[in-house]
Amino acid sequence: MDRMDYLLAIESSCDETAAAVLDTQGRVLGETLLSQMDHLPYGGVVPEIAARAHLAHLPGLVDKALRRAGIEAAALGAVAASTGPGLIGGLIVGSSFGKGFALSLGVPFIAVNHIEAHALSPRLPGVSEREVAFPYLLMLVSGGHCQCVAVEGVGRYRRLGGTIDDAAGEAFDKAAKLLGLGWPGGPALERLAATGDARAVSLPRPLLGRPGCDFSFSGLKTAVAQIVARGDARAEDIAAGFQAAVADVLADRAGHALAMMRQTGSAPGLMVVAGGVAANAAVRAALRTLADAEGIGFSAPPQRLCTDNAVMVGWAALERLRLGEADGLATPARPRWPLDEMRPPAEMGA
Ligand code: KG4
Ligand code: ZN
Repeated sequence: MDRMDYLLAIESSCDETAAAVLDTQGRVLGETLLSQMDHLPYGGVVPEIAARAHLAHLPGLVDKALRRAGIEAAALGAVAASTGPGLIGGLIVGSSFGKGFALSLGVPFIAVNHIEAHALSPRLPGVSEREVAFPYLLMLVSGGHCQCVAVEGVGRYRRLGGTIDDAAGEAFDKAAKLLGLGWPGGPALERLAATGDARAVSLPRPLLGRPGCDFSFSGLKTAVAQIVARGDARAEDIAAGFQAAVADVLADRAGHALAMMRQTGSAPGLMVVAGGVAANAAVRAALRTLADAEGIGFSAPPQRLCTDNAVMVGWAALERLRLGEADGLATPARPRWPLDEMRPPAEMGA
């Protein structure tokens, strides 16, 4: 981006349609985000509906982001978009739009891995209390992904463990559904849990204390289903109990992940929690307590940066551009794109 100072970023991998304009320092000049409500009647994201909604809303959202930033499209030096992993229809819409935009302006297109964007988001200027230096431990807990990642540099990630069944957010959504709450269930369940007593119900802590840092949430979901079916517990107590169980499990697994990083000689100075479930106060508190006990820093990006957004996509693109990322016009949209496959920009073309 030697020509100009601004970057446009697009996010469309799931059910958020978003655009953001950043300057080369990572300052956010203009931002738009639409959480699609078209899926409400179905109780979950319908991929085809999501793709059509992205197509309908993206041009207007991009236009608005540019207007909020107060710049003309011609001032852009690069365009970035999530090209995976995620729902393929939405990824094709967002990345094709971004590629076309970049092509028409004669600027590079930066293909961003959506999980890498979550992973690097705490490094956005102004987001974390202290500087977020490598290496750090990332606990990524969203609706689609749940994994512990050693972040050793831009493009240098080691997946230490992850869920063997449901993602944490998925578990929240399913438990909320069992409790008759709306979708997405996480925020609704957290609100209900605030008035409940976690000790009033007994719920399992799957894989707690086991070696490694994999997760499992399906047994917890089944236990919630059984308690609900028995009908002898208050909904708010079940919600509080479920949330406490998830927080306990996440903290236990994070402790193991830290030990695994230390064993391999990459001692982290910081633990970062990102993804939609990082918005949960009980989860944040459990992980912060662990970080304090382990003597390392703790960072949880603000909620609007934890759930899907285009700012983090723009920041990941900037981190890569700084290291010499090449034009990604030929990069296809991919439903699966594991972090382990990422490389630093300098090694990509080598
Ligand atoms: O990262 P995200 O916006 O989308 C992806 O899945 O990539 O995460 C959405 C997930 C949903 O499952 C939602 O229920 C969960 O994050 N979530 C929460 C909370 N806010 C969102 N889970 C628990 N407590 C919350 N406050
Ligand atoms: Zn996400």
